[in-house]
Amino acid sequence: MIFHRLLVIFVAVLQVSPSSKWILELGDNFIDVRKDGGYWLVKFYTPWCGQCKRLEPIWAHVVQALKNTHVRVGKVDCTIFPNVGKAFDVTTYPTIKLVKADDDFTFEGEKTTEEIINFAIRMSGPPVQLVTRHESLTNIKSMNQLFFMYVGETEGLLWNTFYDIASKFQAHAFYYAASEEIARKHVDLHKLPAVFVHKENSHYVYSVAEGDNAIEAEHINDTMHKFINEERFESFPKITEANINEVLRTRKYIVIVVVEENKLLQVPKEMVEFRDSIKSLAKEKRHAYHDYFQFAWTNSHELANNIVMQIVPLPYLIVLNSTTLEHHVPDDDPVQMSPDAIEYFLKTILEGTAPVYGGDHLSMRLYRTYFKARTTLADRWKGNPVLTTVLLGLPLGFFTFILYSCCCANILDADEDEEEDLRHEKKD
Ligand SMILES: *[C@@H]1O[C@H](CO)[C@@H](O)[C@H](O)[C@H]1NC(C)=O
Ligand SMILES: *[C@@H]1O[C@H](CO)[C@@H](O)[C@H](O)[C@H]1NC(C)=O
Repeated sequence: MIFHRLLVIFVAVLQVSPSSKWILELGDNFIDVRKDGGYWLVKFYTPWCGQCKRLEPIWAHVVQALKNTHVRVGKVDCTIFPNVGKAFDVTTYPTIKLVKADDDFTFEGEKTTEEIINFAIRMSGPPVQLVTRHESLTNIKSMNQLFFMYVGETEGLLWNTFYDIASKFQAHAFYYAASEEIARKHVDLHKLPAVFVHKENSHYVYSVAEGDNAIEAEHINDTMHKFINEERFESFPKITEANINEVLRTRKYIVIVVVEENKLLQVPKEMVEFRDSIKSLAKEKRHAYHDYFQFAWTNSHELANNIVMQIVPLPYLIVLNSTTLEHHVPDDDPVQMSPDAIEYFLKTILEGTAPVYGGDHLSMRLYRTYFKARTTLADRWKGNPVLTTVLLGLPLGFFTFILYSCCCANILDADEDEEEDLRHEKKD
């Protein structure tokens, strides 16, 4: 009986899924429709998840922005169409994918309007976009986006390697190619062909030492991979749960400033000052630190707590070793530290004399999983208290029932009516 009642609640919850008329709701037939070709940006969601609710206003902007492009936008309610989610290997909600006739790509960046739109634009074009007009390059630069550019004839080893890497990392950055004539108006290049990254109004050129011919292809492949991997973030990006794995792939030490941000995305003044001081260190001393450190900031207190395994005070400074996942924290209150003291702290990390905490040992990972489970549950609770109660209550109800039937079997026997009920249900 209890079970039936719970089921009724469960179904009722499913029916109150919010729907906006102007966002295309996709169903089971999407599995076939995609084969007709074209590009689809699809959101896989469930009505009860808190993250999905938070994405809704952002998604509305994305739909608006992509209205007049060749990318069609749709969404799939995976509680009603679980087969569609399964067909695309969706396991967490919300998941955003760019879907082509025979391929699909998962969005892994921070879920902001700008990032999602950029992802859709990038993935619906060729891996390397050709810039054929001088004004286009001016436009691209004015967008303040990080991009990689190849300059020279579109043939040969350097071009092939660039194209290959662009195809692999298309989801994460913009890749362009331009002729010498167009590029020279914007950047100083000594030797062609060349590859450079443009970020924060500066450009940094990839350089390869002349190798011996036999290993040249491999050498260029390795060094260009390394260059692009290390340069694909700005000097002080924002870190979230969504992009931290990508940032860790730089294989550097990640210096993370943790601050608090309120609902209006405002950071308290003293935290801004602290964050800015680390930001200018990252920019002004790029020559000294770029090879070893990726500076970044986050407003996710939870992320910081997950790394350090305790509730950290804010603002905070953590240096994360991207290979071992061990971390370093200064002994003193970071806000009180002078720029020199911060630099000294970084120096002790490079020298291996700074104390090391945490890491990726099994016990740590277990604890991390526990921490994650707890916060996910809290998030779900915020999203839909009724469903959480049902989800938690269901196993608890069964457990109580089993316990009841085991311990009090004789009481159950005595209760004729109850047994009648059970037998009926079994026949159904
Ligand atoms: C190029 O280098 C990357 C990473 O170093 C590697 O994964 C890839 O297999 C290499 N490609 C070729 C064609 O050697
Ligand atoms: C992380 O720790 C390992 C082991 O101590 C060390 O070899 C490595 O240089 C450290 N730094 C990074 C960025 O991996």
